[in-house]
Amino acid sequence: MDAIEILSQLGSPAGRADPYPLYARLHELGEVVEAAPADFIVVGYDAINAVLRDPGFGRPDQEIFDREFPGWDENPVFVQGVDWILNLNPPRHSRIRSLIARAFTARRIAAMEPAIVKMADDLLDAMADNGADGAAVEFMHDFAYLLPVTVICELIGIPESDRESFRPIARDVAGVFEMTDAESLPVINAAAVKLLDYFTELAATRRAAPRDDLLSDLLAISESADGRLTDAELLHNLTLLLVAGFETTTNLLGNGVQIVLQDPAAGEAVRGGSVPPAAFVEEVLRFDSPVQLTSRIGYQAKVGGLAITEHSSLTTLIGAGNRDPRRFADPDVFDPLRQDGGPISFGGGAHFCIGAALARLEGTVAFPRLLARFPKLAAAGQPTRRERLVLRGFETLPVTVA
Ligand code: HEM
Repeated sequence: MDAIEILSQLGSPAGRADPYPLYARLHELGEVVEAAPADFIVVGYDAINAVLRDPGFGRPDQEIFDREFPGWDENPVFVQGVDWILNLNPPRHSRIRSLIARAFTARRIAAMEPAIVKMADDLLDAMADNGADGAAVEFMHDFAYLLPVTVICELIGIPESDRESFRPIARDVAGVFEMTDAESLPVINAAAVKLLDYFTELAATRRAAPRDDLLSDLLAISESADGRLTDAELLHNLTLLLVAGFETTTNLLGNGVQIVLQDPAAGEAVRGGSVPPAAFVEEVLRFDSPVQLTSRIGYQAKVGGLAITEHSSLTTLIGAGNRDPRRFADPDVFDPLRQDGGPISFGGGAHFCIGAALARLEGTVAFPRLLARFPKLAAAGQPTRRERLVLRGFETLPVTVA
């Protein structure tokens, strides 16, 4: 099979369901493959790492939109998206990211632990009630989906009474991370407008009466930073925090539980204490990465022995890098105690995931509590996957808990 054939299979339903054998084929072809002129797929761990850390490779930003997508600014989600730090390059990226990072501190994240424990335990209580008589419960909906969205709402400072209505909206906006087709855009745009309206109102409330939350901190920073963070930049990046922090972490939880359902010994090891929860989380991130890929714009450079051209497109296949046999011994074996850990699931360099510590905290709280609470946790029928390429996870994952 050549690279074109492998990539076309990756886009098929079977390839999406299990891309790993196809990634293994790509690794045989090299660290980087050229899918078409000026279209590179970066599959090797070291090559991905090098590309993400090299400031010469930029994110596709507004300049690209202007050039390749006339009329983009008629789409509210792109109007917000061109301000997202994820889609910015220096100097705007550095300015806005550093201001957001000032509110998104390690202290604030660590301080959330007791609240996350409580949220996780409340959800486990509900699962225990619903599944007490051996009935199947839906792990994705009842836990994997509810925990991260509740956590991010709590972090930002979204009142409890508003959270329920929030979830479907955040989920719709997250659709923009996929290769958006024209048909899904109206739904994504409508959700983006609702989200922005909501944040605009909430920001006015917090400005008048600040609280101990991320939004109040961001507002204080934007006011004290001499206009270095405009209202639009602040509000648009709030949307990003919500959508980037939600489905990704949902998938970390779902992918981890599926591993345990298929290999009960992996769960037993966490339950019994021979595998530390943090090591389990790192290996889930590596073995079945919630974010499978990201992209960069090329400049004249060499990566993995290939000459990259100016303005070319680079797809960095994070999910493949995490299974690179040049980097990991027995990459297809789930081994939380491996000595060669270090998944690239949160990216690297200037755009390294700002929420990595929060996602790790959620995972290290959730997995051991879930496993200790439900020693009989078992699959209850076939799970279904989300039809997605960038964010990898399940739509449904039915389990029994008693
Ligand atoms: C397991 C969960 C998560 C995974 C796998 C993940 C993965 C990633 C990756 C790969 C990137 C880099 C993208 C690139 O370089 O193009 C990234 C960036 C980002 N992530 Fe996460 N993420 C997760 C959770 C979160 C959470 C919980 C939040 C927020 C609360 C968050 C917010 C962000 C933001 C704002 C960026 C953009 C940073 C920038 O461009 O400077 N993520 N994430």
